[in-house]
Amino acid sequence: MAHRVTLIPGDGIGPEITEAVVRVIEAAGVDIEWDRLQAGIPAVQEFGISVPDELMESIKRNKVALKGPITTLVGKGFKSANVTLRQKLDLYANLRPVKSIGGVRSRYDKVDLVIVRENTEDLYTGIEHVISPGVSQAIKVVTESASLRIARWAFEYARKHNRKKVTLVHKANIMKISDGLFLQIFEQVAERYPDIEADDKIVDALAMNLVMDPTRFDILLLGNLFGDIVSDLAAGLVGGLGVVPGANFGDEYAVFEAVHGSAPDIAGKNIANPSALIFSALLMLRHLGEEAAADRIWKSVVVTLAIGRHLTRDLGGSCSTTEFTDALVKEIGSRT
Ligand code: NAI
Repeated sequence: MAHRVTLIPGDGIGPEITEAVVRVIEAAGVDIEWDRLQAGIPAVQEFGISVPDELMESIKRNKVALKGPITTLVGKGFKSANVTLRQKLDLYANLRPVKSIGGVRSRYDKVDLVIVRENTEDLYTGIEHVISPGVSQAIKVVTESASLRIARWAFEYARKHNRKKVTLVHKANIMKISDGLFLQIFEQVAERYPDIEADDKIVDALAMNLVMDPTRFDILLLGNLFGDIVSDLAAGLVGGLGVVPGANFGDEYAVFEAVHGSAPDIAGKNIANPSALIFSALLMLRHLGEEAAADRIWKSVVVTLAIGRHLTRDLGGSCSTTEFTDALVKEIGSRT
């Protein structure tokens, strides 16, 4: 039976890379009926709202969505459609596996990190105001309930995926109450998982340690803002944003998307690397129980990257998105 999945092409490089993913999944023989719906700027232009009701209804019906990146204007405009989706669907856990891939030039070759980012609160609640002219304030929200569920999620993930350690990343030396609560709840939850090692790191020290030797970390659990920043840093350790996938999970719904944004500097040029969204789609296929197809696509991407004849520019090649996708589709075909 066909799976039904909501597909949000997004904007910038989004439409180019989502089409590449659709081709790749088709080539692997997985039957998916896509509900194509817009969010962000294209949705505002068409419907006057960044996350239309029709999109929400589609995701609630299908339970699973694959999403291209969506531009969020800086310092003006509507609230981020990404943040709205995560909050409305209560997608509280953002998963970002960061793994070295043979054939992708990078600073390290044995990185195997998992970033778990709390997705619903912290400085992303968007509670900001002007107190008086020239004085502004943004509020960081940390609750016991959100800290509890994300800590549990991280330890459960560790158990399920045979991981050994969870490191909580915080700035509780300065934000003693808010990050202090995040840390305190983490320590309470950790006691219930004696089979998983648990420790914590202050975010600035973690940033240096990651750059010096990322192989010493296993799962990193972070709040929303530090999770965002550290994810991009970690992507830089394994070849860049073009190869790092992501997924947002709640108890009912899951939305799969790459770590990177809409890359306006290369949009419409057919040069974006679709690998990160393809890897995100692999997380989705596993979530849908399509393990064999996911394995086949993974091996095909690794081989295509390792052969190195069809690399996109971000990986040091000169191929277009379409040429890379053609080569990958051919490789998948040879394995079917
Ligand atoms: P970005 O991730 O879009 O781009 C950063 C750099 O990486 C750029 O030089 C870009 O060309 C390159 N890059 C990113 N993805 C690539 C790919 N697949 N292949 C080759 N090169 C790639 O970050 P930026 O420029 O800060 O953000 C642009 C927009 O995207 C902003 O409006 C931002 O809010 C939004 N954004 C959306 C996200 C989402 O939809 N989940 C996540 C992050 C940012």
